[in-house]
Amino acid sequence: MNDTRAERAALSRRGFIIGAGTLAATGLVLPGRARATDAGRQLSVGASTARLAPDRPEMEVLAYGGTLPGPTFRVRQGEPFKATLVNGLNEPTTIHWHGIRVPIGMDGVPWISQPPVAQGESFDYAFTPPDAGTFWYHPHLNSGEQISRGLAAAIIVDEPEPPPVDRELTWLVSDWRIDPSGQIATGFDSMMEAMMSGRVGNVVTINGTIPSDETVRAGERVRLRLLNAAVGRILALRFEGHRPVVVAIDGQPCDPHEPTDGRILLGPAMRADIMLDCIGEPGARYAIVDDFYPGLAYTLTTLSYAAGDAGSRPASPELIRLQANPLPEPDLDKATPLRVELQGGMMGAGPLAGLGGLGGDASPGMNHSAAWAINGMSMTGDGSMGMDPIATFQAGQSVTLTLVNSTAWWHPMHIHGHSARMLTRNGVPIPNRQWADTVLLAPRDVVECAFVAGLPGDWMLHCHITGHQMTGLMTIFRVV
Ligand code: C2O
Ligand code: CU
Repeated sequence: MNDTRAERAALSRRGFIIGAGTLAATGLVLPGRARATDAGRQLSVGASTARLAPDRPEMEVLAYGGTLPGPTFRVRQGEPFKATLVNGLNEPTTIHWHGIRVPIGMDGVPWISQPPVAQGESFDYAFTPPDAGTFWYHPHLNSGEQISRGLAAAIIVDEPEPPPVDRELTWLVSDWRIDPSGQIATGFDSMMEAMMSGRVGNVVTINGTIPSDETVRAGERVRLRLLNAAVGRILALRFEGHRPVVVAIDGQPCDPHEPTDGRILLGPAMRADIMLDCIGEPGARYAIVDDFYPGLAYTLTTLSYAAGDAGSRPASPELIRLQANPLPEPDLDKATPLRVELQGGMMGAGPLAGLGGLGGDASPGMNHSAAWAINGMSMTGDGSMGMDPIATFQAGQSVTLTLVNSTAWWHPMHIHGHSARMLTRNGVPIPNRQWADTVLLAPRDVVECAFVAGLPGDWMLHCHITGHQMTGLMTIFRVV
């Protein structure tokens, strides 16, 4: 049992014919049933056990609050949030609130934001999320191993007036590598994997369980929050017989649109909010297929329509647009350019050959070797004090960031503390007014995006395939 299940149960069905305006007045604003209990909550982290399916052996995991995934926090936009991390692991940890524009001291990057939280110690996180949306939290220390062992959970920031939907679901997708004994396989530091696609597992779960069916009702409109919490696996989801509409990416609203090729592409750490109109037939079943890796397509889960009850059609067939967040719009005419070139990996320009700074200039005090570099420089491990920023910006300054993937591999590049307006991919404008905090680059892709330098601090920019981050695909930029 996990929070999302509980949340599902708590979200009683309601009538379809409630307009957005009357919604607040009736008090029927959909999400947020657990809000009161979230204030100042304690979040323990430690060893636990879980079964990914009833017929699977008990598995040793790491868990927030003893559950897989950890508790889903619900916060209201613009209201203070507080959580005390209590570290029951036998190693240090921190929490990064991925995608939420928090002050640097709350960003969870060890040594840069805060000291590591040692075993037995605690740390108070407190911030007021400026943006509504789908976000998540995870460790930022030894994160390849800690996330792979189970440390991940959603934090959802509700709009003051959420759009009218019949139901809301959050699917936190995790990827596990299970060994023949039924336990999580070790080898988190495999250099060979780090030079290639990272750690891709052999079992995929939704909300900590190998999915069976998701029961839906003909005619309902579901807001589905998709979250890829894998450390290496990329997802490309197709909804058989349905036409999901993307309304937000990485928590930030976009123009509602059907995804290219009908596939929702989510690299590690990426999120999408979709509106799913249940247009299927009562009693029928429709597969949701992940076909990202050629030849390795599998059914992630199945939409299973309740029989008999035809329900009504969605109240309004028009697309539902979410209210924009208060993100500053970058001024492209005055923006300062920053070019970030990703280099290295297998089948790159020879493993690390000819890249100045690799190895020798990797930041001191880090015992990870480099497989990758950004602009010829490798920052490895979890980061450390004294890393030289790749650039320094004044708060409020607009920045155009050009991400150049000179490697043969995919990379979801995460910008801490900022959401960037997506401009072009390989010279072609990116439609639908998209923003992102994690930008997925295919091999050889060049993506231009822009943001306004936000709160002061040293902000990380790194690949969210943790094996890549640990071996050099990481840098920081400074805002003063
Ligand atoms: Cu979600 Cu630096 O990470
Ligand atoms: Cu990468």
